[in-house]
Amino acid sequence: MKLYVLKERELGKRDPMIYGHFIEHFHRQIYGGVYDPGNELSDEDGFRADVLDAMRKIKVPILRWPGGCFVSSYHWKNAVGSNRKPMFDKAWRVEDPNTFGTDEYIKMCRKIGCEPYICTNAGTGTAEEMSDWAEYCNLPNEGEFAKWRIENGYEEPHKVKYWSIGNENYGFWEIGAKTAEEWGRLVAEASKMIKHVDPTTELTAAALADINWNIHLLENSGQFLDWISIHEYWDGIHNDNNYADYEQVMAYTANLNTSIEKVRGLLTAMQLDKRIRIAFDEWNLRGWYHPNVHTIRQGVTKEEYLYPRDENDDNTKYTMADAVFTACFLNTCNRNCDIVGMANFAPIVNTRGCIYTYPKGIVLRSTYHVFDLYVNYLGDIVLDSFSPKPPLMTVKNKAGKEVTVEQLDIVATSFSDKEGYAIAAVNKSADEEVKFSLDLCGEGEVVRYYISGNSTESYNDVDHTEVTIRREELGVFKRGMEITAEPHSVNIIQIGAANN
Ligand code: AHR
Repeated sequence: MKLYVLKERELGKRDPMIYGHFIEHFHRQIYGGVYDPGNELSDEDGFRADVLDAMRKIKVPILRWPGGCFVSSYHWKNAVGSNRKPMFDKAWRVEDPNTFGTDEYIKMCRKIGCEPYICTNAGTGTAEEMSDWAEYCNLPNEGEFAKWRIENGYEEPHKVKYWSIGNENYGFWEIGAKTAEEWGRLVAEASKMIKHVDPTTELTAAALADINWNIHLLENSGQFLDWISIHEYWDGIHNDNNYADYEQVMAYTANLNTSIEKVRGLLTAMQLDKRIRIAFDEWNLRGWYHPNVHTIRQGVTKEEYLYPRDENDDNTKYTMADAVFTACFLNTCNRNCDIVGMANFAPIVNTRGCIYTYPKGIVLRSTYHVFDLYVNYLGDIVLDSFSPKPPLMTVKNKAGKEVTVEQLDIVATSFSDKEGYAIAAVNKSADEEVKFSLDLCGEGEVVRYYISGNSTESYNDVDHTEVTIRREELGVFKRGMEITAEPHSVNIIQIGAANN
């Protein structure tokens, strides 16, 4: 296969926030995950220092918090100050001690070096409660909430730029679900009030690839919004944990940009596509496993609805299928960098996250290394590229239907701050290597950074490492040079881009 890369034709500069993340008050993401006071690996503020180190290594640019479904009956005022009130979390049916609240979250973001991004309660909450939260975080000292922050020991505003109004309020499963008409009006009032508190905030709101919902949202509140939020989990195993196998996962890569194209189309039709960007602020190959709670029929016993959540912690399930899929989705975000400005891997720690914690350490799952490759080795300028005859492969999806997908998923990039190119090349085949030649004007040393594992089922666990980034030097670039990508591999090929 020949790949033509046109350095002169830049598709755009990708926003680093497409490599963002999400963390929710769910299972062991916060408590026992990133926040573990008393653990010898935790710092003076109770944050797991090894987890923060791992987050810094993949340059987490933005971290969405506190939910997710959790937020739709969460009241932020119970989790600041000295008088924390434990709450019964009606979304996930557990008690939250509220010892991790806004101030702890901001402190954690500062340690990571990432932007905070707060999703507000548009379920049981009000426009006033949401904007009070913005007062607490962003006003220097006016009003009771800024003064409360100062009283709590935070003289300087937290400067939270990114705010979401609500989370999935379109879904029957969400506490405080709304009709499209109700939603448009609530978002308009909430965003108006937040902008009155701090006009420098950037606001988004819960949306989906549905014209009716989005038209009501945008007609009522488009003038206040800077983003529109969508979510997607392709292997929807929330209730049965019935994992799609490698081949079935590859079938999902046939429609990674469907939601983006639908939302782009509506924004364009409403002439909002140059002002409102897409925040894909929850995405992952697989839905989180939490049976009998994200549904109409609630489990009665903890065996039915609570204890099964521990099965998300099975590290053997996070394989090269997750890594290959994740790389293909990040390629999709790069290709759509003109309108996708943020994407948040859901979540970052535990559950389906790329970092798994246990009392004595962490495991970097296969997906962690994909973020390491993309954040630290791929360029930030997305270039046009094409291949006249891309190799195809036919796989069967979960319904047993044949689906044809391109075997190789490629994105070509250059760098805004140095010479050279970096090509992301994902070989989806389970058992065939693929060779491709690079037709581009380049020079210098060629180095391939890649992960492939020993098989499609390779995974990392405590004292078990199969997936790590490897480095291969390929010599001096010559036009038409041929590259080989192993089966089930994620590759970043740098040309003349050695970290000079
Ligand atoms: O399964 C986790 C949930 O998925 C998140 O809380 C919610 O935002 C989405 O429906």
